[in-house]
Amino acid sequence: DLLCKIPGPLLAWYDKNARVLPWRQDPQPYYVWVSEIMLQQTRVEAVKPYFDRFITALPTVAALAEAPEEQLLKLWEGLGYYNRVRNLHKAAKIVMENYHGQLPADFETLLTLPGIGKYSAGAIASIAYGIPMPAVDGNVLRVTARVLASEEDITKEQVIYDISSRLQKILPRDRVGDFNQALMELGALICLPVGKAQCLLCPLRHLCRGYEQGIYMELPKKAPK
Ligand code: ADE
Repeated sequence: DLLCKIPGPLLAWYDKNARVLPWRQDPQPYYVWVSEIMLQQTRVEAVKPYFDRFITALPTVAALAEAPEEQLLKLWEGLGYYNRVRNLHKAAKIVMENYHGQLPADFETLLTLPGIGKYSAGAIASIAYGIPMPAVDGNVLRVTARVLASEEDITKEQVIYDISSRLQKILPRDRVGDFNQALMELGALICLPVGKAQCLLCPLRHLCRGYEQGIYMELPKKAPK
């Protein structure tokens, strides 16, 4: 699998180029959880000040579970998609009641919590607990479609599933959280959408079939909605 050539150069690049982010400095499960929920629909730069304010006001799962709804909405004001914070609140109460205040260190259990889907469960499991699960978001789909020169429609569940299984097989077991974040980081900083890709700076250029074939700018393919 071509993908098995990715981890070496990608992690070397990540070690030099990763952005310093509060939830990376100290990846405790609660921080990773809050950051991943904020990052679901919001960019890293916009999330940073909200994350700091949120964690200062509510430093633990217990504090979050007990917080009044008005305080939560105020802390979230401007981020939008307010269901995210309502689900976060519900999930915090469940974690207090059913899991002794510890976010479960298990992919399937994380999936049962409100607001946590496959992507977020994979991100939290891998970054907070080193559990070898992939975390496939839009950035990761773009990077992998280009490396593989794949013209498959990335809005299809089956295509996302296939990429997830292939990534799971090549996750470097000692650095699963870093590997997942490095793929997202490459998509956010270098392997940018049409017209903005920075291939000359890309650590994967030498193995990228989309680059080799000169078709990366047309990838990934998405069926019109
Ligand atoms: N987007 C979602 N989660 C992220 C993370 N942990 N690092 C960078 N970008 C992200």
